[in-house]
Amino acid sequence: TTIPVLTIDGPSGSGKGTISRLVAQRLGWHYLDSGALYRAVGVAAGWGDIDLSDPAALVRCTFDTEIAFRDDGKELRVLVNGSDATDELRTETAGAAASAIAAIPEVRSALKARQRAFRQPPGLVTDGRDMGTVIFPDAAHKVFLTASAEERAERRYKQLNDKGVSVTLAGLLREILARDARDASRAVAPLRPADDAVHIDTTGLGIDEVVDRVLALLPARE
Ligand code: C5P
Repeated sequence: TTIPVLTIDGPSGSGKGTISRLVAQRLGWHYLDSGALYRAVGVAAGWGDIDLSDPAALVRCTFDTEIAFRDDGKELRVLVNGSDATDELRTETAGAAASAIAAIPEVRSALKARQRAFRQPPGLVTDGRDMGTVIFPDAAHKVFLTASAEERAERRYKQLNDKGVSVTLAGLLREILARDARDASRAVAPLRPADDAVHIDTTGLGIDEVVDRVLALLPARE
Protein backbone atom coordinates (compact mmCIF):
# COMPACT_ATOMS: atom_id res chain seq x y z
CA THR A 1 0.00 0.00 0.00
CA THR A 2 1.27 3.47 -0.80
CA ILE A 3 1.42 6.21 1.79
CA PRO A 4 -0.89 9.09 0.77
CA VAL A 5 0.65 12.44 -0.11
CA LEU A 6 -1.06 15.82 -0.47
CA THR A 7 1.11 18.35 -2.30
CA ILE A 8 0.50 22.09 -2.05
CA ASP A 9 2.58 24.10 -4.50
CA GLY A 10 2.46 27.78 -5.30
CA PRO A 11 4.38 31.06 -5.28
CA SER A 12 5.75 32.69 -2.14
CA GLY A 13 3.07 34.30 0.00
CA SER A 14 0.25 32.22 -1.44
CA GLY A 15 -0.40 30.88 2.05
CA LYS A 16 1.04 27.43 1.34
CA GLY A 17 2.93 27.16 4.61
CA THR A 18 0.09 28.17 6.92
CA ILE A 19 -2.49 26.09 5.05
CA SER A 20 -0.30 23.00 4.75
CA ARG A 21 0.62 22.94 8.41
CA LEU A 22 -3.04 23.31 9.47
CA VAL A 23 -4.24 20.67 7.02
CA ALA A 24 -1.53 18.27 8.24
CA GLN A 25 -2.65 18.90 11.83
CA ARG A 26 -6.29 18.22 10.96
CA LEU A 27 -5.40 15.00 9.13
CA GLY A 28 -2.82 13.90 11.68
CA TRP A 29 -0.29 13.58 8.83
CA HIS A 30 3.37 14.55 8.70
CA TYR A 31 4.29 17.91 7.24
CA LEU A 32 7.28 18.92 5.11
CA ASP A 33 8.06 22.57 4.36
CA SER A 34 10.37 21.99 1.39
CA GLY A 35 11.18 25.69 1.03
CA ALA A 36 12.77 25.54 4.49
CA LEU A 37 15.33 23.07 3.14
CA TYR A 38 16.43 25.52 0.44
CA ARG A 39 16.35 28.39 2.92
CA ALA A 40 18.40 26.34 5.40
CA VAL A 41 21.09 25.72 2.81
CA GLY A 42 21.00 29.43 1.97
CA VAL A 43 21.48 30.36 5.62
CA ALA A 44 24.24 27.77 6.08
CA ALA A 45 25.98 29.16 2.98
CA GLY A 46 25.83 32.61 4.56
CA TRP A 47 27.28 31.32 7.83
CA GLY A 48 30.10 29.66 5.87
CA ASP A 49 30.77 32.75 3.76
CA ILE A 50 30.08 30.73 0.64
CA ASP A 51 29.74 32.70 -2.57
CA LEU A 52 26.23 32.37 -4.02
CA SER A 53 27.77 32.30 -7.48
CA ASP A 54 29.93 29.24 -6.70
CA PRO A 55 27.72 26.24 -7.56
CA ALA A 56 30.30 23.59 -6.59
CA ALA A 57 30.70 25.07 -3.11
CA LEU A 58 26.92 25.34 -2.73
CA VAL A 59 26.47 21.69 -3.70
CA ARG A 60 29.04 20.71 -1.07
CA CYS A 61 27.28 22.93 1.44
CA THR A 62 23.97 21.18 0.64
CA PHE A 63 25.45 17.77 1.46
CA ASP A 64 27.11 19.09 4.62
CA THR A 65 24.12 20.93 6.06
CA GLU A 66 22.12 19.11 8.70
CA ILE A 67 18.47 20.19 8.77
CA ALA A 68 15.94 19.11 11.38
CA PHE A 69 12.35 20.17 12.11
CA ARG A 70 10.70 20.39 15.49
CA ASP A 71 7.06 21.41 15.93
CA ASP A 72 6.84 23.17 19.30
CA GLY A 73 3.03 23.19 19.07
CA LYS A 74 3.00 26.85 18.10
CA GLU A 75 5.17 26.74 15.05
CA LEU A 76 7.64 24.64 13.16
CA ARG A 77 11.17 25.33 14.40
CA VAL A 78 14.02 24.62 12.02
CA LEU A 79 17.44 23.57 13.28
CA VAL A 80 20.35 24.13 10.91
CA ASN A 81 23.50 22.28 11.95
CA GLY A 82 21.98 22.06 15.41
CA SER A 83 21.18 25.79 15.84
CA ASP A 84 17.63 27.14 15.81
CA ALA A 85 17.51 29.22 12.62
CA THR A 86 13.71 29.63 12.39
CA ASP A 87 13.67 33.43 12.46
CA GLU A 88 16.67 33.87 10.18
CA LEU A 89 15.08 31.46 7.69
CA ARG A 90 12.09 33.77 7.26
CA THR A 91 14.04 36.83 6.16
CA GLU A 92 13.97 37.97 2.54
CA THR A 93 17.75 37.54 2.50
CA ALA A 94 17.29 33.84 3.22
CA GLY A 95 14.48 33.64 0.65
CA ALA A 96 16.59 35.26 -2.03
CA ALA A 97 19.56 33.00 -1.22
CA ALA A 98 17.24 29.97 -1.33
CA SER A 99 15.89 31.00 -4.69
CA ALA A 100 19.43 31.40 -6.13
CA ILE A 101 20.54 28.05 -4.70
CA ALA A 102 17.36 26.33 -5.86
CA ALA A 103 18.29 27.03 -9.48
CA ILE A 104 21.29 24.65 -9.23
CA PRO A 105 20.27 21.19 -10.53
CA GLU A 106 22.74 19.28 -8.30
CA VAL A 107 21.37 21.03 -5.23
CA ARG A 108 17.84 20.00 -6.18
CA SER A 109 18.81 16.40 -6.76
CA ALA A 110 20.80 16.33 -3.51
CA LEU A 111 17.64 17.35 -1.64
CA LYS A 112 15.36 14.92 -3.48
CA ALA A 113 15.93 11.87 -1.26
CA ARG A 114 15.74 13.97 1.91
CA GLN A 115 12.31 15.21 0.86
CA ARG A 116 11.00 11.77 -0.10
CA ALA A 117 12.08 10.41 3.29
CA PHE A 118 9.27 12.47 4.86
CA ARG A 119 6.69 10.17 3.26
CA GLN A 120 5.79 8.23 6.40
CA PRO A 121 2.51 6.68 7.59
CA PRO A 122 -0.21 7.73 7.97
CA GLY A 123 0.43 10.37 5.28
CA LEU A 124 2.32 13.50 4.26
CA VAL A 125 1.30 17.06 3.49
CA THR A 126 4.07 18.96 1.77
CA ASP A 127 4.40 22.42 0.30
CA GLY A 128 6.82 23.98 -2.16
CA ARG A 129 7.24 24.65 -5.84
CA ASP A 130 7.72 21.20 -7.37
CA MET A 131 6.18 18.81 -4.86
CA GLY A 132 3.42 17.69 -7.23
CA THR A 133 5.53 17.82 -10.40
CA VAL A 134 8.97 16.44 -9.45
CA ILE A 135 9.27 15.15 -5.88
CA PHE A 136 5.91 13.37 -5.47
CA PRO A 137 4.50 13.10 -9.01
CA ASP A 138 2.44 10.09 -7.86
CA ALA A 139 0.74 12.05 -5.03
CA ALA A 140 -2.98 11.28 -4.90
CA HIS A 141 -3.91 14.86 -3.99
CA LYS A 142 -2.38 17.96 -5.55
CA VAL A 143 -3.22 21.59 -4.97
CA PHE A 144 -1.85 24.72 -6.65
CA LEU A 145 -2.40 27.79 -4.47
CA THR A 146 -2.25 31.29 -5.87
CA ALA A 147 -3.08 34.82 -4.77
CA SER A 148 -2.48 38.18 -6.39
CA ALA A 149 1.07 39.55 -5.95
CA GLU A 150 -0.37 42.56 -4.07
CA GLU A 151 -2.19 40.35 -1.59
CA ARG A 152 0.89 38.16 -1.13
CA ALA A 153 3.03 41.23 -0.44
CA GLU A 154 0.47 42.47 2.08
CA ARG A 155 0.40 39.14 3.90
CA ARG A 156 4.20 39.07 4.11
CA TYR A 157 4.20 42.68 5.26
CA LYS A 158 1.80 41.90 8.08
CA GLN A 159 3.74 38.77 9.07
CA LEU A 160 7.05 40.64 9.24
CA ASN A 161 5.52 43.68 10.92
CA ASP A 162 4.04 41.45 13.64
CA LYS A 163 7.54 40.16 14.24
CA GLY A 164 8.90 43.69 14.48
CA VAL A 165 10.86 43.44 11.23
CA SER A 166 10.90 46.77 9.44
CA VAL A 167 10.11 46.54 5.71
CA THR A 168 8.15 48.50 3.15
CA LEU A 169 5.16 47.15 1.24
CA ALA A 170 6.55 48.42 -2.07
CA GLY A 171 9.90 46.77 -1.40
CA LEU A 172 8.25 43.45 -0.57
CA LEU A 173 6.10 43.58 -3.69
CA ARG A 174 9.21 44.20 -5.77
CA GLU A 175 11.02 41.26 -4.14
CA ILE A 176 8.03 38.95 -4.57
CA LEU A 177 7.70 39.79 -8.27
CA ALA A 178 11.44 39.28 -8.81
CA ARG A 179 11.40 35.93 -7.00
CA ASP A 180 8.28 34.79 -8.90
CA ALA A 181 9.98 35.60 -12.19
CA ARG A 182 13.15 33.75 -11.19
CA ASP A 183 11.27 30.70 -9.91
CA ALA A 184 9.05 30.51 -12.99
CA SER A 185 11.79 31.02 -15.56
CA ARG A 186 14.57 28.77 -14.25
CA ALA A 187 15.49 25.79 -16.42
CA VAL A 188 15.21 23.18 -13.68
CA ALA A 189 11.91 22.50 -11.90
CA PRO A 190 10.31 25.89 -12.70
CA LEU A 191 7.23 26.79 -10.71
CA ARG A 192 4.29 25.40 -12.61
CA PRO A 193 1.16 23.54 -11.57
CA ALA A 194 1.04 19.77 -12.04
CA ASP A 195 -1.43 18.82 -14.78
CA ASP A 196 -3.58 17.07 -12.19
CA ALA A 197 -3.44 19.84 -9.55
CA VAL A 198 -6.58 21.56 -8.29
CA HIS A 199 -6.13 25.36 -8.45
CA ILE A 200 -7.30 27.47 -5.53
CA ASP A 201 -7.01 31.27 -5.70
CA THR A 202 -6.80 32.46 -2.10
CA THR A 203 -7.12 36.19 -2.86
CA GLY A 204 -9.73 37.49 -0.44
CA LEU A 205 -10.19 34.12 1.28
CA GLY A 206 -9.62 33.53 5.00
CA ILE A 207 -7.35 30.78 6.28
CA ASP A 208 -10.21 28.56 7.49
CA GLU A 209 -11.97 28.83 4.14
CA VAL A 210 -8.86 27.66 2.30
CA VAL A 211 -8.23 24.83 4.78
CA ASP A 212 -11.82 23.63 4.30
CA ARG A 213 -11.52 23.73 0.53
CA VAL A 214 -8.33 21.69 0.64
CA LEU A 215 -9.77 19.15 3.09
CA ALA A 216 -12.85 18.81 0.87
CA LEU A 217 -10.59 17.37 -1.85
CA LEU A 218 -9.73 14.36 0.30
CA PRO A 219 -12.02 11.38 0.64
CA ALA A 220 -14.29 11.70 3.67
CA ARG A 221 -12.91 10.02 6.76
CA GLU A 222 -15.06 8.42 9.39
O1 C5P B 1 8.51 28.54 -0.13
P1 C5P B 1 9.66 29.41 0.27
O2 C5P B 1 9.43 30.87 0.05
O3 C5P B 1 10.15 29.12 1.65
O4 C5P B 1 10.87 28.97 -0.68
C1 C5P B 1 12.05 29.70 -0.78
C2 C5P B 1 12.69 29.49 -2.16
O5 C5P B 1 13.12 28.11 -2.27
C3 C5P B 1 11.74 29.71 -3.32
O6 C5P B 1 11.80 31.03 -3.81
C4 C5P B 1 12.22 28.74 -4.38
O7 C5P B 1 13.23 29.31 -5.19
C5 C5P B 1 12.89 27.64 -3.59
N1 C5P B 1 12.08 26.43 -3.53
C6 C5P B 1 12.15 25.54 -4.58
N2 C5P B 1 11.48 24.36 -4.54
C7 C5P B 1 10.72 24.06 -3.48
C8 C5P B 1 10.59 24.95 -2.41
C9 C5P B 1 11.30 26.15 -2.46
O8 C5P B 1 12.83 25.81 -5.55
N3 C5P B 1 10.08 22.89 -3.47
